[in-house]
Amino acid sequence: MTDTVRLEYDGKVFELPVVVGSEGEKAIDISKLRQETGLITLDYGLANTGSCYSEITFMNGEKGVLRYRGIPVEQLAEQSTFKEVAYLLINGDLPTREQLNHFSILLNDHSLVHEDMRAFYQNFPRASHPMGILSGMVNALRSFYPELQNMEEEINMTMTRLLSKVRTMAAMSYKISRGHRVVYPRPDLAYSANFLNMMFDNPVRPYVIDPDVVSALNVFWILHADHEQNCSTSAVRIVGSGRVTLYAAISAGIAALWGPLHGGANQAVVEMLQEIRRSGGDIKPFLARARDKNDPYRLMGFGHRVYKTYDPRAKIMKKMCDRLLEKLQLHDPLLDIAKELEEVALNDDYFIEHNLYPNVDFYSGIVLRTIGIPTNMFTVMFAIGRLPGWIAQWKESMDDPHWKLCRPRQIYTGPTVRDYVPLDQRGR
Ligand code: SDX
Repeated sequence: MTDTVRLEYDGKVFELPVVVGSEGEKAIDISKLRQETGLITLDYGLANTGSCYSEITFMNGEKGVLRYRGIPVEQLAEQSTFKEVAYLLINGDLPTREQLNHFSILLNDHSLVHEDMRAFYQNFPRASHPMGILSGMVNALRSFYPELQNMEEEINMTMTRLLSKVRTMAAMSYKISRGHRVVYPRPDLAYSANFLNMMFDNPVRPYVIDPDVVSALNVFWILHADHEQNCSTSAVRIVGSGRVTLYAAISAGIAALWGPLHGGANQAVVEMLQEIRRSGGDIKPFLARARDKNDPYRLMGFGHRVYKTYDPRAKIMKKMCDRLLEKLQLHDPLLDIAKELEEVALNDDYFIEHNLYPNVDFYSGIVLRTIGIPTNMFTVMFAIGRLPGWIAQWKESMDDPHWKLCRPRQIYTGPTVRDYVPLDQRGR
């Protein structure tokens, strides 16, 4: 028996069905609301609006729970690899050994980028932001691999190609931006190690692959791999609903992720910590600005639309900062500032009342700094991590029988009808 809610309006009573998810979440199905009542709903930021059914990622914002295909992210961070998690998100189950081997071979075979793409990179202004380059170049893949245009190519091949190439494209943009020779992927290196080598190897100082750094990068990408219907994933689904190619939908997701309120926050956090350090290390003025209702300033890396407690990913990321810095025998003063900021904020009435806790971006930049990633590539690292999630969500939407073109309505508040006024009858 389906649960319903009663809506009384204009002297009539309407029964709207309530749907329930596998974890007990409930929603009012309003797909027939306008047809039956003439009403639509209005929900700025879509904070109260579900856009789809999904079997990929479950989050509980009040309890700080995150699971990919039912598996807790803590277990995946501890025991899995990014390659395996990518397979899990896209295919629904962990791969068998044979499936993982086949996936590895495909990732290797598709890790090169068309040589003609280098001309694109070389002609971007040197100061171009890597996220703008990545979004443009992913869209450009369509020109180099047109098979997808008419869906001739087996879709798993396309998804694997994108997963493999985006890593090469990111490293390539970094090398070319510095005027260095591009380093090619190596068949003997696994996904994360290959990326690090493409980023940092050079003829006069061969890159020494440190297993601790590879492990940290694997965990970093696992923690970023999916997060249900966040801003950039929603962009991928909405753009994808127009039946564009996977490349165009992912390019839109990269553009959406770039913003400082979303994936761009990891770069903004480090810039904020550097500014605190430059101004003598006193965090009080920054907290005061964050609390000031008349100041649009936000404490970067804090707060979340869904998590109203500590982001489970931030907990793992924070521990990883300590572990990696200790293993590499390094010290990062920004970590000390971040920890002090967290300590003070979590005991501050404003942050407590507003349920503001560190999110995934608060410590992630420090992990990336320790690995040697330049600050302007932090959000590219987030994008590489989120790519399997975007692909899985795009694929799920394409396979969903309920799915249709995304086209929201609005409430118009502009001028009511009026006549055109010829130019010579208007004011000066
Ligand atoms: C990511 O959606 C996802 O899942 C995203 C993500 C993923 O994996 O895809 O988790 C990745 O994007 C994490 C978030 C990274 N962004 C930041 O760290 C930027 C700083 N955070 C804020 O801008 C903010 O917390 C948001 C945007 C993340 C969420 O804010 P909401 O849900 O839109 O809430 P809001 O902006 O309306 O704020 C509600 C209240 C306001 O105060 P009041 O006007 O009600 O008194 O909380 C305050 C805000 O002023 N507030 C903050 C704050 N965040 C919210 N005040 C100071 N500092 C902050 N960081």
